[in-house]
Amino acid sequence: MSKVANEVIHRQLNWRYACKKFDPTKKINEADLNILLESMRLSASSYGLQPWKFIVIQNPEIRKKLLPLSWNQSPVVEASHLVVLTYKEKMDEPFIDRHMQQTAKVREVEVASLARLKTSIMGDLVNGARSEVINWWAQRQTYLAMGSFLITAALMEIDSLPMEGLDPIGYDEVLKLEGTGFKTLAAIAFGYRAADDKYQHIKKVRFDLADVVEIR
Ligand SMILES: Cc1cc2nc3c(=O)[nH]c(=O)nc-3n(C[C@H](O)[C@H](O)[C@H](O)COP(=O)(O)O)c2cc1C
Repeated sequence: MSKVANEVIHRQLNWRYACKKFDPTKKINEADLNILLESMRLSASSYGLQPWKFIVIQNPEIRKKLLPLSWNQSPVVEASHLVVLTYKEKMDEPFIDRHMQQTAKVREVEVASLARLKTSIMGDLVNGARSEVINWWAQRQTYLAMGSFLITAALMEIDSLPMEGLDPIGYDEVLKLEGTGFKTLAAIAFGYRAADDKYQHIKKVRFDLADVVEIR
């Protein structure tokens, strides 16, 4: 049996919807915010490389600037919080080294003992065929963190809106990302739904399980 009852998980997965109108008076507390940030930090990623940075925009002036760059979607300014998910544009040796050093520190091993792992990652992502499409690779990893966030928020009964409807280049400019090695992928507005957000009452449209799952 799972720790969280199956019915609870299923209920919360159905409870979640892409919230289009937030109650601007309701704010997420710090403890809840921290768990949501942890849900991204603890997300899985290829080789465990975590090619991402999550930028929580607290400054209302910056959120106002982002609004017209986000198809004027009101959650950008009305949700309790906004997080921008950015991905590492290129994989390079310093980044891999940083990961090796962190691994050595956490697992209490010598960095030298990770040399073979480093060589294989370098041969794949930095110097290998996948280096040509490395930004797609990094984007895919970052979407996993987004998924992790959405599910965690649903379990916590915190509403969210994942957003690709934005101008990533404009975001990069406002957030001064040039030269950091990171680029905007998407954003998540989150907080608490407005009582009159009509989307909360609209039925979920999904294909049947038998249409999307094949058992062989
Ligand atoms: C990566 C991603 C980007 C999305 N971008 C937007 C967006 O910019 N604006 C919006 O209103 N909904 C956006 N959505 C929400 C989807 O339209 C929504 O998840 C889908 O219609 C299914 O509905 P549900 O999430 O309410 O079940 C996005 C969803 C995902 C996963």
